[in-house]
Amino acid sequence: MAANKALSLPLILTALTLHLTIIAGEYFTPFNVTYDHRALIIGGKRRILISAGIHYPRATPEMWPKLIARSKEGGADVIETYTFWNGHEPTRGQYNFEGRYDIVKFAKLVGSHGLYLFIRIGPYACAEWNFGGFPVWLRDIPGIEFRTDNAPFKEEMERYVKKIVDLMIAESLFSWQGGPIILLQIENEYGNIESSFGPKGKIYMKWAAEMAVGLGAGVPWVMCRQTDAPEYIIDTCNAYYCDAYTPNSGKKPKIWTENWDGWYADWGERLPHRPSEDIAFAIARFFQRGGSLQNYYMYFGGTNFGRTAGGPAQITSYDYDAPLDEYGLLRQPKWGHLKDLHAAIKLCEPALVAADSPQYIKLGPKQESGQLAILGNPTRYLTWM
Ligand SMILES: *[C@@H]1O[C@H](CO)[C@@H](O)[C@H](O)[C@H]1NC(C)=O
Repeated sequence: MAANKALSLPLILTALTLHLTIIAGEYFTPFNVTYDHRALIIGGKRRILISAGIHYPRATPEMWPKLIARSKEGGADVIETYTFWNGHEPTRGQYNFEGRYDIVKFAKLVGSHGLYLFIRIGPYACAEWNFGGFPVWLRDIPGIEFRTDNAPFKEEMERYVKKIVDLMIAESLFSWQGGPIILLQIENEYGNIESSFGPKGKIYMKWAAEMAVGLGAGVPWVMCRQTDAPEYIIDTCNAYYCDAYTPNSGKKPKIWTENWDGWYADWGERLPHRPSEDIAFAIARFFQRGGSLQNYYMYFGGTNFGRTAGGPAQITSYDYDAPLDEYGLLRQPKWGHLKDLHAAIKLCEPALVAADSPQYIKLGPKQESGQLAILGNPTRYLTWM
């Protein structure tokens, strides 16, 4: 009896502490993320979300708090980033989560600013990053073939993706743990090249989807530019305009993972520019036509430090003509114009998510008709041409 009592007190205390951690959450009251055909559902509410793309190793940790604060002030609800495998595992099995690669610190800063986090794990990131984010040692593994149904590749990829997910779980960074992470991405624009791998391409894509979902992250996964994504993965749009995009199933929300608000710069080429008015129009149109989340690629582009710039000719600046410039300063009028747009969209959020988006029919060049269901009893329709 006495021995039992001595054992049970610490056990009770441990259970109590665990319980408290789960209830309180470090940054948010724990919430689940789900979705329906209309929107991402955060803690039971359909949402219209503005996401700001910032790649943590393209800035310094000293810059992160200000970049996140300026994104929030500009109207962002979410911060989005890729992960960079060759930065995190420069030598096989030797991980680096320090300095500019301290993704845990970055995620915690996002949470402490009250913003959500969307992590695109890849692990192929492309991103105008050296080797697309693949570590150079990957190439030397006997029999390896990248991004296809190849056992050595799949083994390495799974190990890395699991490493990232497990790290985030251990640090209680998922929404259901009270952390900021609401969304994850596996692979990256694989749909662009899938057919070049023959039947093995589809097998690999399905494997990647199943592997990712099996890791127990507990938030939805997306695949961008993957029109054949499985039912349980949201296929998303990367482009200058995504209003006409529809996911491959009527059960998935419309998500814009990359809104190209500028472009990368190559040696000897002109610096790219996309006007604020055009971006604002594209975004307003996206949400008008049923969009749920729009991510600026990039909101802050930053710098390709060291030898991280991708080939063949990307310059070290990844400024991207983004709303925050390479140094994190406000780029005007872009930053302010989009901030005003976000405020206007937020005013419409309850109305937007309360109804399905209008149905549009093309009548001919530059002509369309629309029909909006006004929910009620009976449901009425507003039709225009
Ligand atoms: C989230 O969903 C899981 C699984 O359905 C459930 O056990 C948990 O209680 C939910 N958490 C919250 C905060 O709703």
